[in-house]
Amino acid sequence: MPRLLTAFKPTGHLHLGNLIGAVRPIAARRQDSDTTVFIADLHAMTVQHDPTTLRALTMECAGLLLASGVDPSCFYAQSHLPEHTELHYLLECVTHYGEAHRMIQFKEKGGTGSRISLLTYPVLMAADILLHDTDQVPVGEDQLQHLELTRTVAQRFNSLYGTTFTVPVGVAPLVGARIMDLGDPNRKMGKTGATDHGSIQLLDPPDVIRRKVMRAVTDTLGVVRFAPEEQPGVANLLTILAACTSGDPRELAGTFTGYGELKAAVADAVVATVAPIQERYAALDPSDVRQALLGGAKRARDTAYPTVSRARAAIGLLD
Ligand code: TYM
Repeated sequence: MPRLLTAFKPTGHLHLGNLIGAVRPIAARRQDSDTTVFIADLHAMTVQHDPTTLRALTMECAGLLLASGVDPSCFYAQSHLPEHTELHYLLECVTHYGEAHRMIQFKEKGGTGSRISLLTYPVLMAADILLHDTDQVPVGEDQLQHLELTRTVAQRFNSLYGTTFTVPVGVAPLVGARIMDLGDPNRKMGKTGATDHGSIQLLDPPDVIRRKVMRAVTDTLGVVRFAPEEQPGVANLLTILAACTSGDPRELAGTFTGYGELKAAVADAVVATVAPIQERYAALDPSDVRQALLGGAKRARDTAYPTVSRARAAIGLLD
């Protein structure tokens, strides 16, 4: 069975972009593959953070992932598995400064006063992925650049020290690889920096979701077409609708005569998508979530420890 892995950074509340871009794609593969999902709490510390908020967001993220149907058997918090940081250091030793510096994460958030770990963020991500002999990494479009660096680092390590790592591929969904902010359809829906009504959080109540969708920025053309360049707002709404209903955005475009009708359908579809997740989330006991995380970290060590041992031996460290 192929090995799939993905992760979520608890720097804010999980949103619809996370759900469509990565949560649902990996949850959908739990029958036909070995899936690993973790909460990237170490990555969350690469920007300024508040310790209490980090703990709360890590628990919320874990609960929402379980409620969304990810397989709990290999599911944990990154910081509970020290092999992530150990492999990170070994990989840093084969990564070039320019490669890390070119990554979008550092370009967007780096600058005077930023943390060194923001620069090495993509190397930790490479360690995350290579640790589990991952074949495929379901992610949104914004993470594909990090997957390319992961491949480069894995190939370099393999050619310098002998085949040690599986070289993975990033897989973005055909529909919804980049869900845009509802208030500014030229930027990605995100956990931080969203416009006021731009991001739909998975825990938003139905009336809030409806209000956000009804206020979504469109255009003055007044025709429902799937034309992302000319009509990014309308295209984004069609993409969200298609992702929530397993439809095709182009075909769906022909079924609406106006923006109000389209928005009402999108609001209904998003509410119907998140309602069961919210119900399951509300029924979770936080101590069960903690147990799931701890048990998952123990099981994850079964693949992580041998990989790190292999890498240590290959690079020339003593047993
Ligand atoms: P994060 O937490 O920013 O995002 C988690 C996942 O959601 C996807 N995503 C989106 N997809 C579609 N439209 C959007 N607007 C949107 N916003 C986010 C992201 O592409 C991602 O797949 N660096 C990662 C976390 C990470 C990771 C890893 C991922 C750490 N280690 C190893 C995969 C493998 C991040 O910041 O994700």
